[in-house]
Amino acid sequence: MKKIVTTLALALASSLTFAQNQLTISNSSENVTINKHIYGHFAEHLGRCIYGGIYVGEDAKIPNQKGVRNDVVEALKKLKIPNLRWPGGCFADTYHWKDGIGPKAKRPSIVNTWWGGVTEDNSFGTHDFLDLCERLGTEPYLAGNVGSGTVQELTDWVQYVNFDGKSPMSSLRKENGREKSWNVKFWGVGNEAWGCGGNMKAEYYANEYRKYATFMSDWNNTGKLFRIASGANSADYHWTEVLMRDIPHEMLSGVALHHYSVTNWQHKGPSTEFDEKQYFGTMKQALFMEELVQKHSAIMDKYDPKKKVALVVDEWGGWYEVEPGTNPGFLYQQNTIRDAMIAGVTLNIFNNHADRIRMANLAQVVNVLQSVILTKDEKMLLTPTYHVMEMYNVHQDATLLPVELKSNDYSFEADKLKAVSASASKDKNGLTHVSLVNIDPKKAQDITIDLRGLNLKTVTGRVLTSAKLQDYNTFENPTKIQPADFKGASLSGAQLKVKLPPASVVVLELK
Ligand code: AHR
Repeated sequence: MKKIVTTLALALASSLTFAQNQLTISNSSENVTINKHIYGHFAEHLGRCIYGGIYVGEDAKIPNQKGVRNDVVEALKKLKIPNLRWPGGCFADTYHWKDGIGPKAKRPSIVNTWWGGVTEDNSFGTHDFLDLCERLGTEPYLAGNVGSGTVQELTDWVQYVNFDGKSPMSSLRKENGREKSWNVKFWGVGNEAWGCGGNMKAEYYANEYRKYATFMSDWNNTGKLFRIASGANSADYHWTEVLMRDIPHEMLSGVALHHYSVTNWQHKGPSTEFDEKQYFGTMKQALFMEELVQKHSAIMDKYDPKKKVALVVDEWGGWYEVEPGTNPGFLYQQNTIRDAMIAGVTLNIFNNHADRIRMANLAQVVNVLQSVILTKDEKMLLTPTYHVMEMYNVHQDATLLPVELKSNDYSFEADKLKAVSASASKDKNGLTHVSLVNIDPKKAQDITIDLRGLNLKTVTGRVLTSAKLQDYNTFENPTKIQPADFKGASLSGAQLKVKLPPASVVVLELK
């Protein structure tokens, strides 16, 4: 009997110990910067992302500059988008850039074979995209066509946009109205070479990459092009191994990785009318990013212990069934509190691995997959994901503060996940920011945060949450979900106590 009582007491004590979330934030000893490019976006010729979402044409009634929507540009500026990837995705390996330059009336059309089979008139091309990036104050990330293009075509593109001297391509650019080069740094060498980019084997693609990268010269000799190899599909570790082993690192700035938070590719489930089982599955896939990053990084460490090559997660996000009544090839989906959870936990993972992850791109920016903006004719709304990206942009180029987290479980049926996720940084003005997520849709989470050594005196914060996981912003009620002041944090000495509401994202500012 005595033994049973002791066992029960021990079990109770241990459950009490773990019933309290604990976070320790320390001063950085390693000085890792959270590269702002982790907060990048992606704009593909897919559905209504470019045509209708970003570009409406100069004659449209929707207010625009050179055909690009003013409302979308203003909203994106507030996000401080550091880089924008274009023109694909799968589309990139079908795209011939010369079709998208010169007088618009003379441009040939293209059939978008991957996405809905629609015919596009190429009225949005290289100049239109690079001018948009200038307007946004963002760096372009151009994805080159390896699958159906040629080395010549891609090197001509580099010369067209980057060369200021006299050359056939720079003369052509000038004829088309642009005197100065754009000096584009980020270049993708194909996309999903293992799939829509050519169904190649890793070994074959590594050779192709070496050939393309050899001729993709930095025409201005002002610094190296940042060339990014088409990377692995989720847990395809062999792909990363081969790329890191077979490509000389002086011609490799980044290796990509794509992972979507999908539980079942055959039945992706609805974007709004989902149940808790589907929610739990999505969270599991989002949190799987941690394992992916750890395992791909370990392979990279083996070949590149000094971490010179960046891991570039240039496609990530939630992917569901399209909205009822919309073109299945257009990948148009709504965006709920579930998507805010995906964004919050994923960005925390990226921040915490900023030593290796130095660039990432959410898929996609407008009207496609986990968008930050949705449009309907002249109307526009900001999604919960937009608000998370905006709240988190305080981490851009800040110094990572290492965190140690003990989290309660979020249990569903026989399975469980960690309920809380966190990351922290200190910016150039000395402000400390802590981003916290509670994915548990039913339980609030009390967290004790140890800030010893940081010498912080005040705390303020913002929270994003809503009554139901399935809540979203509509064109009729576009501000239903938006950040609010957070009152659930109190600081006493070096101890911060925080109460996170169920299914919430909180960003705290301390000084
Ligand atoms: O983002 C949608 C598609 O997903 C991209 O075109 C492709 O790269 C990926 O499979």
